[in-house]
Amino acid sequence: MQQEEKDILILAIESSCDETAASVVRNGREILSNVIASQIDLHTLYGGVVPEIASRKHIEKINQVIGQAVSQAGVTLRDVDAIAVTYGPGLVGALLVGVSAAKALAFALDKPLVGVHHIEGHICANYLQYPDLEPPFMSLVVSGGHSHLVIVRDYGEYEAIGRTRDDAAGEAFDKVARAIGLGYPGGPKIDKLVAKEGNPDAIAFPRASVGGSVYDFSFSGLKSAVLNYLNEYSMKGIEVNRADVAASFQKAVTDVLVAHGIQGAKDYGFHKLALAGGVASNTALRKAMKEACEREGIEFYYPAPILCTDNAAMIGSAGYYEFQKGVRSGWDLNAVPNLKLGER
Ligand code: KG4
Ligand code: ZN
Repeated sequence: MQQEEKDILILAIESSCDETAASVVRNGREILSNVIASQIDLHTLYGGVVPEIASRKHIEKINQVIGQAVSQAGVTLRDVDAIAVTYGPGLVGALLVGVSAAKALAFALDKPLVGVHHIEGHICANYLQYPDLEPPFMSLVVSGGHSHLVIVRDYGEYEAIGRTRDDAAGEAFDKVARAIGLGYPGGPKIDKLVAKEGNPDAIAFPRASVGGSVYDFSFSGLKSAVLNYLNEYSMKGIEVNRADVAASFQKAVTDVLVAHGIQGAKDYGFHKLALAGGVASNTALRKAMKEACEREGIEFYYPAPILCTDNAAMIGSAGYYEFQKGVRSGWDLNAVPNLKLGER
């Protein structure tokens, strides 16, 4: 009789920024639980993430969130095959909470420990959404801290061909939202406002191109152009149309993201393009990228919004593929705030 392959269960932990999250994932593709304790309400008071507060809140929540993830999955800690945890990039104090919890659990349970790169996790969210998706493909990762165009050669094999020179796409959304009085986090607020009203062609904000890699991004010039526009109108005592500013800004960002994503996929001959990261849940970006991919004969992948923003299920998927490759972290695993893609 043929022996059936045993299921691999990964317990994953994510605490790199302002979400305390834990999840159980089966065979890298199936979410058994996905618990996320968001701190957004707390940080909204300050207009952005306060690292010290984030770390303290992670400490308060982490054990409860892990417990919920295990019980909602209908398993016990003993059933888990390995513990995966985000160890970078991110806020050092926040990362340390997840890394310490994962190390303690792995040690106490005598289970393997697998450190996971946060951006690789974002990309792997696509494996959870599309169980049949396989590498190679091109991925555009756009979040609050990162904007990367990445070649996914194989499971666990990544090469960044483009990155932001200054602000990340989500950071630009957050800063512009704050300037027009929408508050934190800005991305979803701009997205929502523009969906209702606003003319994306009202104001001609710049589409930045930078020297060097044609796939690199720069959003600080665009952000300054929006701030200058707001200042100019405020000095003249003229009220701006906030929806038009938001829509024109969003169009300027999405135009560049779509152009670079498509260019990269075409240049490297990929017929699959996967979006990832918090900004990947932006309605206008999804629509524009979908249309561009259809025009170019490229298959377009994008995770559900809950899998775009920070979560531990994506770390469970990435952790599974690392685990299968034989990657094991030692008890000296540490938080690496500036961990580069493809580095261990
Ligand atoms: O991936 P993520 O949760 O955290 C990081 O790894 O950075 O991304 C958070 C970022 C924030 O900047 C937030 O404003 C942005 O993603 N974001 C959005 C949308 N939803 C979240 N940006 C534009 N449109 C959205 N719908
Ligand atoms: Zn993230």
